[in-house]
Amino acid sequence: MKKILALMLLTILTGNSIINAQRADFNVIPMPKEVKADSIQMFILRQGMGVSFDASNPEIYRNVQFLCEWVEQMTGIKLQLTPNDKKAAIRMTLEAPAKSKKGEAVAELTAQQQEAYTIKVDKKGVAIQARKPEGLFRAAQTLRKALPVVKEKTEQVELPYAEISDEPRFEYRGVLLDCGRHFYNVDFIKKFIDVMALHGCNQFHWHLTEDQGWRFEVKAYPNLAPKGSVRAETVLAHGYSRIFDGIPYGGYYTQDECREVVRYAAERYVNVVPEIDLPGHMQSALHVFPNLGCTGGPYPVRTYWGVSREVLCGGNPETLTFLKTVLGELCDVFPSKYIHIGGDECPKDRWKECEKCQAKIKELGLKSDGKHSAENQLQSYINREVEAFMKERGRDIIGWDEILEGGLSGSSIVMSWRGTKGGIAAARQGHRVIMSPNVYSYIDHPQLKEPRKQPHTTDGYTVTASKIHSFEPLIPDSLSEEQQRLILGPQVNLWTEHIAYPQHAFFQLLPRLGASSEVQWCRPEQKDFEQFKKRLPRLKAIYDLLGVKYCNEIE
Ligand code: ACM
Ligand code: ZN
Repeated sequence: MKKILALMLLTILTGNSIINAQRADFNVIPMPKEVKADSIQMFILRQGMGVSFDASNPEIYRNVQFLCEWVEQMTGIKLQLTPNDKKAAIRMTLEAPAKSKKGEAVAELTAQQQEAYTIKVDKKGVAIQARKPEGLFRAAQTLRKALPVVKEKTEQVELPYAEISDEPRFEYRGVLLDCGRHFYNVDFIKKFIDVMALHGCNQFHWHLTEDQGWRFEVKAYPNLAPKGSVRAETVLAHGYSRIFDGIPYGGYYTQDECREVVRYAAERYVNVVPEIDLPGHMQSALHVFPNLGCTGGPYPVRTYWGVSREVLCGGNPETLTFLKTVLGELCDVFPSKYIHIGGDECPKDRWKECEKCQAKIKELGLKSDGKHSAENQLQSYINREVEAFMKERGRDIIGWDEILEGGLSGSSIVMSWRGTKGGIAAARQGHRVIMSPNVYSYIDHPQLKEPRKQPHTTDGYTVTASKIHSFEPLIPDSLSEEQQRLILGPQVNLWTEHIAYPQHAFFQLLPRLGASSEVQWCRPEQKDFEQFKKRLPRLKAIYDLLGVKYCNEIE
């Protein structure tokens, strides 16, 4: 006790960290909803202190293990597991479920409340409370990010007395990784998920199929992934040159690997939303099954970027059989309540000339109504068939905003990427929406205005961290409060045409994911980009610790 007082006095006198101890700062990224912290009174966390928890709950045990691992990684302090010890320095507890006066359980928690938590630091130590284990995980991440990264591993760290109360703003906080254009192995995917969880993101949108590569094993079609995943070569640089590297490129995920990713992500409270992009972006599948195309092929797995005119034939009944078989297996592997069916960039050139497509349009009685062409309505017909099939399996479909173009049905969720227009239109029609407008969310684009400061990537426009940070997903000028409630949340997208290497992927992602995490987690009145910049160094220190590249400058 005397020693603590002496240390505190020294802290007050120097107004700074004491020798051989460093101070935590709860102003992390994303900024918690409420942080009240003392600048004078400190709890000193030391080697060997205990962490208590409910030993009968394996999920809490797992979260305690994460916390111990992170504390040691950051500071060198090894904590001891002291289950059910009310006097331990760190105490992780679940609050009892709320009951009404009559003792009945009260209304179910919202998704955001399930992630809420409090942290209290006082002379007794650190009390972490949440209503669900997920909240304890989020709290452990906050504590992790608050700690200093101590290079000379220390014996003790100062935690300011504090009261933190936190809860995310949006229930859906997504990040897309395009594994179609370039393949990333499972170890990378796990690290990507770790980085997402560090930022409080909870939806990993896994883009698994593309013209340039089919990455998901389908047992009913044993040739699909082995053949559809391999392109003969890849176009160099921007691709305008049509100069190719001459090197075959491939890779796919077995279903066992996908299940392993789902398991790993779930332990970090990240849901995996798989995407099979249909009926466009399917040239890799057409390579294996040319009969599913309008012209019959042959179709090479595409070796360059851009939008392909070769899409699944909308009039061939085998197309739906194929899609249902693939999606059926996808549902067996991925438990997500959301399944993404793409729907973007499906040119109708072939459908306009295809006898089968035109016969189907006639059979269905589809006619251009001025707003939607008959061919767009044929795509809507496919979407509806797929949606009904997914409903039978208890899943909701998400589609890119093109799915609005032939008329949108049922409970489809629209992912707005061509700006916010599609999202606004969908919410006005009563559909749920994920906001991912390209100019605020496409992190394949450069993050700095000066091209020479960053690796070559998708050109067109710049998506700076400040631009991302400024995004307001509810579009209050255009949507009523009721319509705003249909916005599930925002997402950033990492397309990988020009990103062939894992460290380049992290460079594109970071620290822009930090900026995006504040759009996903924080209320608008809390967001302050200048403050964000001041809080960033500590997050960068964690990136260094994890060995992931990031862009050191931000604009
Ligand atoms: C997209 O960027 N084509 C969804
Ligand atoms: Zn056709």
